[in-house]
Amino acid sequence: MKKRIAVLAGDGIGPEVIKQARKVLDAIAQKFHHEFTYDYALVGAIAIDETGNPLPDDTIEACRIADAVLFGAIGDPKYDNDPNAKIRPEQGLLRLRKELGLFGNIRPVQLFSSLISRSPLKEERIKGTDLVVYRELTGGIYFGEKGRSEDGKSAFDHCEYSVEEIERIAKLAFEAALRRRKKLTLVDKANVLETSRLWREVVQVMALSYPDVEVEYLFVDNAAMQIIQRPNQFDVILTENMFGDIISDEASVITGSIGLLPSASVGEQTSLFEPIHGSFPQATGKDIANPIAAILSVAMMLESFEMLEEAQLVRTVVERVISKGLVTPDLNPDSHASCSKVGDVVSLLIETELPIETSFENLFEGSLPFI
Ligand code: IPM
Ligand code: MG
Repeated sequence: MKKRIAVLAGDGIGPEVIKQARKVLDAIAQKFHHEFTYDYALVGAIAIDETGNPLPDDTIEACRIADAVLFGAIGDPKYDNDPNAKIRPEQGLLRLRKELGLFGNIRPVQLFSSLISRSPLKEERIKGTDLVVYRELTGGIYFGEKGRSEDGKSAFDHCEYSVEEIERIAKLAFEAALRRRKKLTLVDKANVLETSRLWREVVQVMALSYPDVEVEYLFVDNAAMQIIQRPNQFDVILTENMFGDIISDEASVITGSIGLLPSASVGEQTSLFEPIHGSFPQATGKDIANPIAAILSVAMMLESFEMLEEAQLVRTVVERVISKGLVTPDLNPDSHASCSKVGDVVSLLIETELPIETSFENLFEGSLPFI
């Protein structure tokens, strides 16, 4: 199969983790005789540095004509520390989501059994956790009117949702629940916010069409607590843009590292696949970032191409590599591997014809120079 992939590596550790993801895609192409072509394009702080624009027109075009977008990370401390900056890297990602109509952000949170002890939470609380956050991505407070009063002494961010915006993401979440354990939790703040009351109203009506799905409603403050206390009670979590941003970072803690969590953003046009972590500027250039979230984002991309065997192979190899302790320092500060080593081993294990067990043992015993 031929696929054209737009690669937007972005800032900070983005290029490093995307390099590993690309190795994995190349390995899949090689093993399964696919032809992937890559169009690299600028986004974020690096795009501002080079063109003055966090999302140049060329980048939008490269994404539109692609079958999928592989996205790294964006953000740079020089903008974070300057609240008055008019042009910011994040605008690139937000505009891209809007331009591509990416209204649904899917963030699965799965535990690797070999990493349970790396979680800051107690094993008995997190065992069996397997949830997915369906976050609305192109509406709400992120995209409402915002501004300052003339004297600069007050500021506002407007939060608005339409029935249609809620319905289309809710439909994705209900369908996911049907394929999974048939439970959907709407996270909102309906005791305070009018937009949340609209979410509840819409979801209650839709629930009638999905009688097999058990629907529960949680206020976001309570949900934030429950996700840490009893994460294994959740199946599909449906929520609006900002609550989803916060809850998904929180949920990533359960797994032991945010560096493990992939995501897919889907909608009207090309889908986009990205790790949920940020640009981690402190780690840039040190080859210590965890590439697993980016590699698992590749697995989600392959699924979107209906390359199910390929996606499964990526997951199996990742699981195996992690269970052998070949992990970056976020997961094991004492005995850790580099970002590029993890990428090399995962891609090599994918390409090799040997059964995963055998080849990994060979690699691990140092029979290859880069181990
Ligand atoms: C995310 C990020 C973005 C968001 C930032 C970089 C704009 O935190 O994808 O979760 O808030 O959506
Ligand atoms: Mg976030």
